[in-house]
Amino acid sequence: MTDVIMPAYNRSPISFECGEGVWLWDTQGEKYLDALSGIAVSVLGHCHPAILEAITQQAQKVLHVSNGFEIPQQEKLAQTLTNLSSMDQVFFANSGAEANEAAIKLARLYGHNKGIKNPTIIAMEGGFHGRTLATLSASGNRTIQAGFEPLVQGFLRAPYNDLEALETLAHNSSDIVAVMLEPILGNAGIIIPDEGYLKGIRKLCDDQGWLMILDEVQTGIGHTGQYFAYQHENIIPDVLTLAKALGNGIPIGACLAHGEAIDIFQPGKHGTTLGGNPFACHVSQAVLDTIVQEDLLNHVQAMSSYLEKQLRESLREFPQITEIRIKGLMIGIQLDQDCMALRKYGLEQGLIFNVTKTNAIRLLPPLIIQTAELDILIEKLHATLTAYFNEQ
Ligand SMILES: Cc1ncc(COP(=O)(O)O)c(C=O)c1O
Repeated sequence: MTDVIMPAYNRSPISFECGEGVWLWDTQGEKYLDALSGIAVSVLGHCHPAILEAITQQAQKVLHVSNGFEIPQQEKLAQTLTNLSSMDQVFFANSGAEANEAAIKLARLYGHNKGIKNPTIIAMEGGFHGRTLATLSASGNRTIQAGFEPLVQGFLRAPYNDLEALETLAHNSSDIVAVMLEPILGNAGIIIPDEGYLKGIRKLCDDQGWLMILDEVQTGIGHTGQYFAYQHENIIPDVLTLAKALGNGIPIGACLAHGEAIDIFQPGKHGTTLGGNPFACHVSQAVLDTIVQEDLLNHVQAMSSYLEKQLRESLREFPQITEIRIKGLMIGIQLDQDCMALRKYGLEQGLIFNVTKTNAIRLLPPLIIQTAELDILIEKLHATLTAYFNEQ
């Protein structure tokens, strides 16, 4: 690594030359199984023909025009997204943090429109919403906040998966306008809440006149086996944020609104130069079309059942593993100890994953992964853990 790049990331000393499907090849010709999808992004794997075609098609026409004009690709994508999600409107951004900034601003405006002068948003302990000032303030993670004080005001903290705590906050504050949460905590290690939790929050928001904001930047676009994680509980949020897999590698984010939350951003209230440009929207459309055409939701559910059975079987011999959490193709493997170095052992076996919260392995394989590739993934993970614990 050179000193012309700000040292903001801990990088492994590997660079990738090319990829195909779930596989990546580094510049030395070594082959890796990508079980992380660039952190929940490359859901169709690498170099999917439909995405290559969409990229070429649109690049030959026009990349960018500005939101001062009508953008048919944006309207088409918004139509597809609202159809899939049962939401009503979309604002396009370029990343997850930006999608969440839009959601936070929308909730504040919603509060002000109701005469609430200090609109307050409840956000969760352990939650992660991005690295901009407002989104890191919303995140329940001191590590990412430290050094950036003063934080953005207007957030109340609640423990995750605890409906009673939210009810207590409801009694104690009249400034609350929204609850913001991930339906599964991704960066905290794939923490899956109890069944009924989202439904309970939906009801509380309805009773209190709060907006329910779901951050599906990591869970959205199929990784849980539904397009959106809330569809497992048959509810509809008021605000939904997406990014990552929405572009399969092309930067795009989206903030969707439903019911009470629509029409809040009038001209002049929010904007972005690149958000929703013809290129990003055309590629994103191809991502969603491909998920439908290849019936990938059913595929994810089938792969999830297969993986869960095989993985539990294979990892049974490691007493250091205390829990395996799986929803669709989002997998958290909890260890009883810090294991940051495991990532390096994985790379030595040709397996890409990451470690979150210092002690949980996170796997987010592409949705297109097949059983034979899952077998290899499990084999490599087993070899990684064996080598790691043998050398300890
Ligand atoms: C749940 C969630 N929200 C927001 C973000 C931020 O997205 P981005 O890195 O695209 O700004 C992430 C990124 O990991 C995320 O997992």
